[in-house]
Amino acid sequence: MGPAAASLALATHGLHKRYGSRVALAGLDLSVPEGVVYGFLGPNGAGKTTTMRLLTGLIHPDTGSIELLGRPFGRRDRRRLFDIGALIESPAFYPYLSGRENLRALAATGASTPANKVDELLDLVGLMDRARDRVSTYSLGMKQRLGIAAALLSDPRLLLLDEPANGLDPAGIVAMRDTLRNLAGMGKTVFVSSHILGEVRQLADMVGIIAAGRLVREGSLDDILSGGAIVRIRIKPEEVARAVAILPGMLGAGQVSVQSAESGWLSVEADAGRASEINRSLAEAGIYASELTAESDLESVFLELTGGAPAADGERPTFGAAGVSPKGSP
Ligand SMILES: Nc1ncnc2c1ncn2[C@@H]1O[C@H](COP(=O)(O)OP(=O)(O)OP(=O)(O)O)[C@@H](O)[C@H]1O
Ligand SMILES: [Mg+2]
Repeated sequence: MGPAAASLALATHGLHKRYGSRVALAGLDLSVPEGVVYGFLGPNGAGKTTTMRLLTGLIHPDTGSIELLGRPFGRRDRRRLFDIGALIESPAFYPYLSGRENLRALAATGASTPANKVDELLDLVGLMDRARDRVSTYSLGMKQRLGIAAALLSDPRLLLLDEPANGLDPAGIVAMRDTLRNLAGMGKTVFVSSHILGEVRQLADMVGIIAAGRLVREGSLDDILSGGAIVRIRIKPEEVARAVAILPGMLGAGQVSVQSAESGWLSVEADAGRASEINRSLAEAGIYASELTAESDLESVFLELTGGAPAADGERPTFGAAGVSPKGSP
């Protein structure tokens, strides 16, 4: 194993998995460096949960291999999962025990856990004030947070979380993000799946996008966003023609494409960082944008790579033809 492989917390090579005749994973290759928050992004049915279940030995691949923390992970290696914390689907707790009692019970079955660990984790996930209440009285989000605490009991170096934000309210999502970032700050690797783009972009250092059981793009958020970012500007429809005449001089020809002249939406291919510059040049020409977004570019990449269609809100144009080209897609 070379030095590059040694610094990977998680790697998969050509993972294939079918359920009967349905192909869930069609040769999945992932490379997750140590110490990052890795967003594992894909639409419903893409194979995220299947991957998580393979990574924790709940199911086994048809072909392909897995390396966890630099070592092969095979059928007989479930013991090694003390190095790995996982939250997959809804965690099962004893409903009639309190959150604290549940964690204590779990701690007793696993690797030895320091006495204060349970309360430390309850505090970390913001459940201290409900620690004595029965789990049956917890909300979905509280159970989810208790699940994360449970995953952290063995002080794992690698944390696998399948859609941990499911069922959390906005405040809960922010708290979760802070918790996961803190864990990465402590040198842990956090592999977290989601089908929600906004969540991942605020949380992850790195993103792997999967569709139909295959990786279609993997890289740092910066890398994925830098190639062909799209700035969207809404101006008065009667000013579209003039804007189209002005912008290429500023940005270089071929970088401006009009997507929806009637509603006044312009789509400009440019670095997201140039949005304010574009806005300023238009304003200098007396064209004032009523809306300007530069943050939907990951969405464009995601939609393009996963073959989805943008939500039809009747206002937004479609950007399918905009020049975001997948790198290494099948
Ligand atoms: N136990 C199962 N039996 C049969 N097919 C399954 C089973 N579990 C998953 N699948 C199929 O495998 C594919 C991948 O499913 P998976 O649950 O891994 O997707 P996912 O990315 O987690 O989706 P979601 O975002 O909806 O959670 C889907 O086509 C799904 O229908
Ligand atoms: Mg899933």
